Amino acid sequence: MKNAWWKRAVVYQIYPRSFMDSNGDGIGDLRGIISRLDYLKELGVDVVWLSPVYQSPNDDNGYDISDYRAIMEEFGTMEDFDEMLSGMHERGIRLVMDLVVNHTSDEHAWFVESRSGVDNPYRDYYIWREGKDGREPNNWESCFSGSAWEYDGTTDMYYLHLFSKKQPDLNWDNPKVRQEVFDMMDWWCRKGIDGFRMDVISLISKKPGLPDGEPVPGSEYADHGCANGPRVHEYLREMNQKVLSRYDLMTVGECAGVTTREAEKYASLDGTELNMVFQFEHVDLDNGPYGKWTDRRVDLRDLKQMMDKWQTKLAGKAWNSLFLGNHDQPRCVSRFGNDDPRYRVSCAKMLATCLHMMQGTPYVYQGDEIGMTNCPFETLDDIRDIESINAFHKYTGSGQISPEDMMRYIRLRGRDNSRTPMQWDDGPQAGFTTGQPWIMVNPNYKEINVKKELTDPDSVFHYYRKLIALRKQEDIITEGSCQLLEPDHEKLYIYTRTLDTEKLLVICNFSEDETVYEIPAEFSHARVLIRNLPGDQPEGTLRLRPYEAVVLKTE
Ligand code: GLC
Ligand code: CA
Repeated sequence: MKNAWWKRAVVYQIYPRSFMDSNGDGIGDLRGIISRLDYLKELGVDVVWLSPVYQSPNDDNGYDISDYRAIMEEFGTMEDFDEMLSGMHERGIRLVMDLVVNHTSDEHAWFVESRSGVDNPYRDYYIWREGKDGREPNNWESCFSGSAWEYDGTTDMYYLHLFSKKQPDLNWDNPKVRQEVFDMMDWWCRKGIDGFRMDVISLISKKPGLPDGEPVPGSEYADHGCANGPRVHEYLREMNQKVLSRYDLMTVGECAGVTTREAEKYASLDGTELNMVFQFEHVDLDNGPYGKWTDRRVDLRDLKQMMDKWQTKLAGKAWNSLFLGNHDQPRCVSRFGNDDPRYRVSCAKMLATCLHMMQGTPYVYQGDEIGMTNCPFETLDDIRDIESINAFHKYTGSGQISPEDMMRYIRLRGRDNSRTPMQWDDGPQAGFTTGQPWIMVNPNYKEINVKKELTDPDSVFHYYRKLIALRKQEDIITEGSCQLLEPDHEKLYIYTRTLDTEKLLVICNFSEDETVYEIPAEFSHARVLIRNLPGDQPEGTLRLRPYEAVVLKTE
């Protein structure tokens, strides 16, 4: 694992529904992606993580799969897929597919069979239970609000769904289910894909007996407690032996509820499970009493402490993935920085600097490389995301949150912020489609778009390009150890990287105030590796402008 290619890689996440529409139906598609491959090549990314493109009734935008070996009609055909894959490979870009196997769609043939009768051979592919005292079998809450159980009249029993009721959970304790999944993965590997991003993989092993959880105060439901279940590592090791180890892949597990200790197993450098995990501790820091539905902002000191914990605890043992946003998170520049037009550009570059200089594999979410922002959705009619819509009804229905506050929270934290169409140019619908897009375009597209970014040498795009290229030139970015400085500083995020005799100093101003920093003596003759604002050679006292970032390297 020492020289594994994925340690040096930068990954770009495509959310296909919102990336590029080729045929004017308002929905992004594979031919749209094909038409933009040269753009990705210019950015310099090594890998594309493609959110699901499989056949799906789209209850959760493709995370509810009804056929793992077919392409969603709206997205194109298998021929389009093959052409996209070879187009990527020709440009030296690898493809990581989304693997959604904690659950399927309720329209998947296995589930259609499974629900048809208790003796059906597919019955045990899913998790069926009798009701308890005329109610659900236990008190678990779905991640998308309401009970995690759905009653099914055909057999007078309930099935488990940790997400929507159209996403029934697979029963991983059934060896036949595991074999089906492994065969399907093998089928995609033989097609030539280069890896998997494994959706909520930390949830696949449920506790025996499915015990009630501790009820959330003020609610009849409890957390399902399925994260890092008793057999999850056993199942991943089996997957590794049967499939992953037979190909040269990159694997990343989406691990809700993962701790650094668990991550050492999931992403151990000995290569027995996965290559890396997505952890969520740093994007949960700004949660409030109603989880993500809040206007709280993270305190920089907490963010630094959390990032540093993951940097140091995994060092030499496991591998980090680095991200500030994805299709489930709001836009990072709005959330961790400042999307005010005065600061947006500096801020987008500063956040990218802070993240890309850390140890791990960085992920760029589509649009972040041009500094896209949260979207001013007005009413619930503008919202498409099942999570936001269900939460709106839950909290306004119970009277815990007013409709106005809930809309405000959705504007700050809802998943649709990152799902508005990619802004390609300043023409109608931002050049995303010639038709009506499935979700509104952010009205700031005339200001923020790819066309403009490509022509401006000081753009966020060109800055990302430099950051990505630096990772190829400087081993220290991949290999160096990480040390946080000034943990209690409220405005500056400062850390060093060390590899043998070389050192990097990364200084990021997370505030809109000019902030002073004394450069440590060992960096007094260091050269500037990259910075987001023009300036003189920094020496002695550094005056950082709002959202300024400077990286120094000792010779
Ligand atoms: C993951 C996906 C998210 C999806 C959920 C259920 O968290 O990233 O988009 O809704 O799993 O599949
Ligand atoms: Ca289309």
